[in-house]
Amino acid sequence: MATSNFVSLVNPKAVGLQLFQKSYAKTAAAATQPRMKKFAIYSWDPEKRGDKPKLQTYEVDLNECGPMVLDALIKIKNEIDPTLTFSSSCSEGICGSCSMNVGGNNTLACLCKIDTNTSKTTKIYPLPHMYVMKDLVPDMNNFYAQYSSIEPYLKKKNMTEADIGKKQYLQNMQDSAKLDGLYECILCACCSTSCPSYWWNSDKYLGPAVLMQAYSWMIDSRDDFTNERLALMEDSFTVYSCHTIMNCTKACPKGLNPGKAIGEIKKMLILYNAKEAAKAAEKSSLSA
Ligand code: SF4
Ligand code: SF4
Ligand code: FES
Repeated sequence: MATSNFVSLVNPKAVGLQLFQKSYAKTAAAATQPRMKKFAIYSWDPEKRGDKPKLQTYEVDLNECGPMVLDALIKIKNEIDPTLTFSSSCSEGICGSCSMNVGGNNTLACLCKIDTNTSKTTKIYPLPHMYVMKDLVPDMNNFYAQYSSIEPYLKKKNMTEADIGKKQYLQNMQDSAKLDGLYECILCACCSTSCPSYWWNSDKYLGPAVLMQAYSWMIDSRDDFTNERLALMEDSFTVYSCHTIMNCTKACPKGLNPGKAIGEIKKMLILYNAKEAAKAAEKSSLSA
């Protein structure tokens, strides 16, 4: 009898079962305990006379919420404060509309996991150094105007109105590969709004997001306007406000490298300027 008791106590299967039951009970108990997490969210309503920006704190039970910061924002808006304003669309890092500053970093709320440490409050602000429309929505007008200024579309020489839409412009695999790491940009502006040069000179400096797009068109084998695109960048601000601090590359939630693209534009400008200087010298020697 004693032997059989001893055997049952040390039976590894029985011990394993007991441990499993204990840990299951613990997990089940933990799951029923609310895990309240605080979010302190920038709040400002331009339509409320005299409203001053402040941090508004909300509590969310993480057991009842999806894992991403965007899930928490949607939950707060649906269940606690319908006035909370933010933008989002795709919920999967494609549209670029949910960019904001979470815990000190510019990121996409839909790709940013909630810090599950419930003793810490997560602070959420709109993208830094931007005018604010309301709460977490920045005014993107200047950013889009800058994007528009680089003419972000295919430009061909000797093309008439009648040619538009009639012809495919094919590209070989090598030329197409040069655009990898550029075309994936979703224009979320996380990079530009993390750039100190952009903070201080966003009226004159195009910033990393727009410059990376400009570079993409400059090296696109189907586009005929590389020199004209470079000519737009010659002044001392448009590109040269970049001091290669690389905050932009660190901030990109898509893992792209706008800082490198800016470096490539600078290299192209050196060649472009040398060629232009040689052309001017030749012209003046002919006219002399
Ligand atoms: S590398 Fe240039 S664009 Fe990027 S953060 Fe630094 S200054 Fe801004
Ligand atoms: S480079 Fe990255 S951070 Fe900058 S706009 Fe594009 S996706 Fe956003
Ligand atoms: S909702 Fe589209 S990128 Fe976040």
